[in-house]
Amino acid sequence: ENHQLWGGRFTAEPSEYVQRFGASIGFDQAMAAEDLTGSLAHVAMLKKTAILKAEEADQITAGLHTLQQKLANGELEFSIANEDIHLNLEKMLTDLIGPVAGKLHTARSRNDQVATDMHLYLKNHLNTILPLIKQLQATIVAKAEKHITTLMPGYTHMQHAQPISYGQYLMAYFQMFQRDAERFDFNLKHTDLSPLGAAALAGTTFPTDRAYTAAQLGFAAPYANSLDAVSDRDFILEFLSNSAQLMMHLSRFCEEIIVWDSQEFHYVELDDTYSTGSSIMPQKKNPDMAELIRGKTGRVYGDLMGLLTVMKGLPLAYNKDFQEDKEGMFDAVKTIEQSLTVFNGMLATLKVNTAQMAHATTHDFSNATELADYLAAKGMPFRQAHELVGELVLTCIKKQAYLKDVTLAEFKALSPLIEEDVYTALDPETAVERRNSLGGTGFKQIKQQIAAAKTLLGE
Ligand code: ARG
Repeated sequence: ENHQLWGGRFTAEPSEYVQRFGASIGFDQAMAAEDLTGSLAHVAMLKKTAILKAEEADQITAGLHTLQQKLANGELEFSIANEDIHLNLEKMLTDLIGPVAGKLHTARSRNDQVATDMHLYLKNHLNTILPLIKQLQATIVAKAEKHITTLMPGYTHMQHAQPISYGQYLMAYFQMFQRDAERFDFNLKHTDLSPLGAAALAGTTFPTDRAYTAAQLGFAAPYANSLDAVSDRDFILEFLSNSAQLMMHLSRFCEEIIVWDSQEFHYVELDDTYSTGSSIMPQKKNPDMAELIRGKTGRVYGDLMGLLTVMKGLPLAYNKDFQEDKEGMFDAVKTIEQSLTVFNGMLATLKVNTAQMAHATTHDFSNATELADYLAAKGMPFRQAHELVGELVLTCIKKQAYLKDVTLAEFKALSPLIEEDVYTALDPETAVERRNSLGGTGFKQIKQQIAAAKTLLGE
């Protein structure tokens, strides 16, 4: 005899070890609320279509409400013997209201049930994640607005390239997070569909109303094809891919914070509330939160690769492999929600050492392009100007001087085109302010970017 809910055709039960291996209750209990919501919509439909008698449906509905209450009070105790969240809740409903509970599963399968739960779960979380991204974007815009005229060296190859504004730097990340938000928003469209009523794979002979359950659950529409409805995990893959990309952006941002927070750079300093000390070195103040976000990027990439690999080669329709779709999704949801929250606080409280940044722009050769451009603007072919300035930089390095230290007589010896105004051109502030091409680091351009960003954020 077999005591499983599906035990009819069996004469023996799996061992406890095997049951434990097959069970998902350890993690899919995170969808208990969604499972009850799905069942309530399903039973409402069974009543409306007269598939169940009103009285039976009402009994089931009342039982499900009791379970919702118990769940909220933390009174539900899940058991491995009942495999997963769906069977656990069905068993509890049976204990509560008796055999009529068995009618709930009419015209439904765990296959469309679990897919519905996951759609509900992810939709809820996308509606949390999108505002978290927006909040971070707002923090970035507010900080950029404060630092429109804060100068710093811009880098390529990690070498001083051209001076830029820290505001311009921040607004680059605004754009990345805007694309992230747009991707999650598109993801929401594919998540906002109801698989419920697809049943095991082929639909059902009962006169169900899938549009009704979809509407009850707040989904935009039912899936068009029953096989697709129970086999589709694209919405999760999209979510994991979007999450991987979001984490990549956070990780790059963190990397710069970590490097710039070092003694060698000292461009920024983390607030004490977002740093940790060392158990041995009393002087240490470590950027642990930034490092953790950088590190957690790896696990989210893993979540994506994991599910992509699970899906590869799965025939239609349901396969138990699908049970492996959940932990990665839960992990990515938790990781990006936490990372966005922590990063936002860390950035909002980050101190910017504007003096150190400015110092770096006056003690380097990041104004070399300015001199080459200056000569080119006065008619010298740019390639020739580039060569000339390159040689001058070499001479300066030997003399331990910068371009601003070159006297006018020395400049004139180099090229008679050079006048007194060269010193203004070499000033990093001028260099930044004049880069007024569309989207450039010029102060006017940054102001326009900020205005456009505020419009996007609805500020
Ligand atoms: N725990 C299962 C999962 O997560 C639920 C669906 C089970 N369906 C089935 N036909 N065995 O995928």
